Amino acid sequence: MSDTFSPIHPHRCWAEIDLAALERNLRLIRASLPAHIRYVAVVKADAYGHGLHHAAARLMHSGADLFAVANVTEAAALRELGPGWPILILSPLLPEEDRRLADYDLAATVSSAEEVARFDAIGRASGRPVAVHLKIDTGMGRLGVWHEDAPALCARILAAPHLRLAGIFTHFASPDDDAAFTAEQRRRFLAALARCASVRPAEIFIHADNSSGLESMPGASPFNAVRVGLLQFGILPHPNSMLAQVHTEPVFSFHTRVGLVKRLPQGTTISYGRTHTLARDSTVAILCAGYGDGIPRAASNRAQVLIRGRRCPVLGRVTMDQTIVDVTDVPGVQCGDAVVLVGRQGGEEISISEFSRHADTIPWETLCSVTKRVPRLYRTALGV
Ligand SMILES: Cc1ncc(COP(=O)(O)O)c(C=O)c1O
Repeated sequence: MSDTFSPIHPHRCWAEIDLAALERNLRLIRASLPAHIRYVAVVKADAYGHGLHHAAARLMHSGADLFAVANVTEAAALRELGPGWPILILSPLLPEEDRRLADYDLAATVSSAEEVARFDAIGRASGRPVAVHLKIDTGMGRLGVWHEDAPALCARILAAPHLRLAGIFTHFASPDDDAAFTAEQRRRFLAALARCASVRPAEIFIHADNSSGLESMPGASPFNAVRVGLLQFGILPHPNSMLAQVHTEPVFSFHTRVGLVKRLPQGTTISYGRTHTLARDSTVAILCAGYGDGIPRAASNRAQVLIRGRRCPVLGRVTMDQTIVDVTDVPGVQCGDAVVLVGRQGGEEISISEFSRHADTIPWETLCSVTKRVPRLYRTALGV
């Protein structure tokens, strides 16, 4: 697999990753925030399918202050790239993973007294304090200590001789569609923080806002960092997002090629389950990609693709290795033609949000569903 972009590489299905756009996006997001706000780049799940190695290297170069990953395996891969870069693990560790905190110099998320004891033991054994971020559950009902109990857990962390409190954070449940509950979560967080005796917020990372959260982030508050995933990849968290004003641009696009073109008579049924019947004599193109690559089966009979700059509807069920589209109204389509599944071609664009809607899913899941057999080709030049 080549990882440098070249239009002549003979791929059947590939993703293009525009690292220059990623760098521009980070700078634009930073410019839209008060200067003192630090930037936590969320690069879990292989940097949302963009490729951890390339994406994180570019984000390091572009001025991220801290990286957030899901687990120890991702953290170890990231550590190889950047000795000294602060890395926060967002998920709970399994007991046998604890020693990796010291091996790779990682910060752990703490939600419980049991974790305080475990990580303190690691710090004692390694002879170096383990960095931790206290997570406060303000209404997500997932990780974190319940906000009313946070001051007691914070005191335990501060009293643990082999731990260093590096941050305190929370996570919003509905920042894109429930402003009142998000405000309540902020209120609970700030109330808990105020009761955490001996904490100097200015000296640690205080963070809550993911991409959607940025829309309601208060200017003046103890929050001094943001934790951004989707937006840095140029994708808005929801269609009417005010974050459109930041003018980020898509980093990811998804491509395949036409493998076969053929004429079929009116009345022919298409693909498994015969869910589509041709209403006219048609020209169909068989694409070299299916759900084995990351075109969701749920997009059957719904999605559109771009060929020769024109929208072509998917006919029938998406299959593992092929997808069938109607090209009756697009003259000259032939084997080898470039097909855009997500991205621009000519004057047309299919956004990842549109592609995801056709499969009843969200861009986060779409990005994580592009499979291993799809090479990621990287554009690196810093255009304007
Ligand atoms: C704890 C946490 N913080 C931040 C993020 C980043 O969210 P987004 O991609 O919406 O910016 C996520 C994403 O899943 C997350 O789980």
